[in-house]
Amino acid sequence: MVTLTPRVLQADEVVEHLRTLRARQPVRYWAFYSSQLGGIVTDPALMVLPFDDHMVHRGHGVFDTAAIVDGKIYDLEAHLDRFVRSAGLSKLPLPCRREEMREIIALTAAASGKRDGSIRYWISSGPGSLGLPPAAGAEPGFFVMIFGGLAYPDRWYTDGLRVMTTTYPIKPPLYAVTKSTNYLPNILMQLEAQEAGLDNGVFVDDAGHVGESSNMNVAFVGADGVLRHPKFDHILSGCTSLRLLALARGLVGGMLRGVEVRDIPVVEARAAREMLLIGSSIKVAAIVEWDGRPIGDGRPGPMARALRELLERDMREAKDRLIDVPY
Ligand SMILES: Cc1ncc(COP(=O)(O)O)c(C=O)c1O
Repeated sequence: MVTLTPRVLQADEVVEHLRTLRARQPVRYWAFYSSQLGGIVTDPALMVLPFDDHMVHRGHGVFDTAAIVDGKIYDLEAHLDRFVRSAGLSKLPLPCRREEMREIIALTAAASGKRDGSIRYWISSGPGSLGLPPAAGAEPGFFVMIFGGLAYPDRWYTDGLRVMTTTYPIKPPLYAVTKSTNYLPNILMQLEAQEAGLDNGVFVDDAGHVGESSNMNVAFVGADGVLRHPKFDHILSGCTSLRLLALARGLVGGMLRGVEVRDIPVVEARAAREMLLIGSSIKVAAIVEWDGRPIGDGRPGPMARALRELLERDMREAKDRLIDVPY
C-alpha cells in the first residue's frame, strides 16, 4: 500500500511493517540464507535485500532452482553446473567455493525442516551504487530460499495445456542460455497468453525453429515415434529435459523409436503426435492445443504420462543424484 504522507521510520517500525505486509499476503517461504544478513532467517518478514544491490535495480544476478524430494535434494550438481556457468557468462564472481555453496544450500534446507519443497538460490552483483558495473568494494551476494514451489492447476495434467506462439521476440542465444534474473520476455509471454485465455506461450526463433516456453522447455513426439527436443544453443539447458532425454533412451525399442536433439521447424512441430512441457516445476505435462490447432488428437498422450512417471521415479530413486539434507 502506498503511504501518501510518508515520514521517516525507526528500524523497529520497518520490521513491524514488513510483518504486516506478510500477514496481508501470506507466503510459503520457510527459510532464507543471505550472505548479507550473515545467516538464515525463517521469518518471511526478514527475507530482505538491500535495495541498491544491482540484482534489484539492474537485474545483474543469476539463479537456479532445485527440488527437495522426500528429505533429499535432487540433481543439485546439474543445477549447480548451470548456476556456475550462468555466473561466468554474467561476469559475476562466485561468492565462495562451490562446495561451500552446496553446504549452505543443504543447511538452509535443513533449517526449513521441510521434506518436500523447492530451493532457489541466487548470486547477486552486490550493493553499493545505483550504477551498472558492480560498485566499488561490492561483494557478490549469495541467497538461498526454501519455499513451497510453483503450483500448477491439476487440469494441466488431466486435460493438458493450450498455448500460443508469443509475439515477443525470443532472447538472443547468449541471454537465453544464461539463467539470469532478467525474465522480462518470459513474463510478457506468460501475461500475453493469460490475456488471451491460454495457459502459456512458446518462443519461436528467427529461423522458424521452436525455442522454449516461459520457464519450461518444450519437446515433441513425432508421428514416427521419435522424441525430439530443440538444441540447447538458443534456449536454457533444462536440467529436467537433459535428464529425461537420457532416461527416454531406455524407452527406445518400446514406446519410442528414437531420441533426437536438433533444430525443430515449427511446421514439423505442429504435426507432432504429442507436445510436451518439461521443467523442474511442472515436471512433464502435455500441450494439447497450439495456436488454436490441436496437437495429435487434442488429448494428453501416453508419452507425457510415461515421462512424468520416469521422472518422478528418478527423483526418489536415483541414488547418485540425491543429496541428504542434514535435518
Ligand atoms: C526459460 C526456461 N527454460 C527452461 C527451464 C527448465 O529448466 P529446468 O528443467 O532446469 O527447470 C526453465 C526453468 O528453470 C526456464 O526458466
